[in-house]
Amino acid sequence: MDKIQSLTGMLDLYDDGDMTNTSSKLFEVETIIKDIFLNYKFQEIRTPVLEDASLYKRSVGDSSDIVNKEIYSFNDRNDKTIAMRPEGTASVIRSIVEKKLDQENHKLWYLGPMWRYERPQKGRYRQFTQAGIEILGIPEGLPEYEMVSVVCSIINKFKLRNCCIKINHLGTRQNKASFCKALVDFLEPYKKDLNEKDIERLHKNPLRVLDSKNSETQTILKNAPSIKEFIDKASIEMLNSIKNEFSDLCKIEIDFNLVRGLDYYSGFVFEAISSELGAQDSFLGGGRYDQLCSQLGGKDMPAIGMAIGLERLANIANPIKPNRKLISFIIAASNLEPKAYKIAHHLRSLNKDIVLDISLSQGSLKSKMRKANKNNADFAIILGEEELKNKSVVIKPLKDELKEQQAVSIDDLYSFYKAL
Ligand code: HAM
Repeated sequence: MDKIQSLTGMLDLYDDGDMTNTSSKLFEVETIIKDIFLNYKFQEIRTPVLEDASLYKRSVGDSSDIVNKEIYSFNDRNDKTIAMRPEGTASVIRSIVEKKLDQENHKLWYLGPMWRYERPQKGRYRQFTQAGIEILGIPEGLPEYEMVSVVCSIINKFKLRNCCIKINHLGTRQNKASFCKALVDFLEPYKKDLNEKDIERLHKNPLRVLDSKNSETQTILKNAPSIKEFIDKASIEMLNSIKNEFSDLCKIEIDFNLVRGLDYYSGFVFEAISSELGAQDSFLGGGRYDQLCSQLGGKDMPAIGMAIGLERLANIANPIKPNRKLISFIIAASNLEPKAYKIAHHLRSLNKDIVLDISLSQGSLKSKMRKANKNNADFAIILGEEELKNKSVVIKPLKDELKEQQAVSIDDLYSFYKAL
């Protein structure tokens, strides 16, 4: 029989308690990211992972790589084409339009799996996890500062080194269109020198040529027109002001070549990159998308947002696990288990900062002690026949060899545990 395996580019994530393991870190990163969002008063939105496939054509855009090559889609029993969401923004706006909430202001966050049929490599998966935020209803100005502030909070919270926030301004839709035209006019005569991928981009999404990894293309681009010549003074001033305000917190660079791969952006765009990530160096990205709501049938609603790739962030995040003490509760005789569970239940209610682990497997006292040591527990609490008769337990320090074990009454155990 053929072996059944996971699909290419799709990870099994599991927590083995080892914080050098990206998978374990990812769960901790999720909790901390949610805390940061709540600290800024974002509210959760949870949309389905499946959507009508045409949503992404009308939002992320026909000319983007995502819609062109990367969508996971299938026809359902009614022959409707359904897509697994490749990102979260389109669903959020679809939901806001559908519920007629497009005339109100919102600050929303979400977290969950996304799917893109990409060529898997380090940091690039076919199923990955994004946490995102969207500020809806507020025009350009203050939300841009709030976005960069959240990015700085993330960078500082996870003590990220060797990273930088790149910012740019794509101007209005008209500015963006004029720049695209100028770029195409400039590149057309060089078409014979471009590779196949860049020629395709030139026709479908000329701004993406600026992202080209091809060194010949980059040489040609040195003399190309720059977006800087097409946007107004106020936009450049905003970039400078954001850079000035936040540069003491994080490294910020104005990069006039930053264009982003999704079609819905205009105005302010940004990405955070880390040189520790290798080729897939961007761990978050976002920008303003003021036209998306009306494009999806809603009212005009200014909007800005960003999404973080959590696998990439977990990969570079520095020790984040709150240093919680671990105690192993060892029951030395099976007839004592009901009693021990009651004691453990009370202990857990006394101090929420401690992790109390009761061994669920049968085995000798020795094997349970071995397991407690392997789990790196700080103390073992041992309950045996003798102890229960005397209404006491033994507390054994496992990390400090100089400290002796001691028998204490159950009441003293409660006080000891509370004070840890
Ligand atoms: P995006 O730049 O396509 O933007 O994705 C955001 C982040 O998701 C990337 O910076 C990266 O960390 C992560 N990511 C993307 N593709 C993969 C992959 N194949 N494997 C692992 N991680 C990946 C968006 O999705 C926009 N919706 C962001 C946004 C929100 N703009 C406005 N609001």
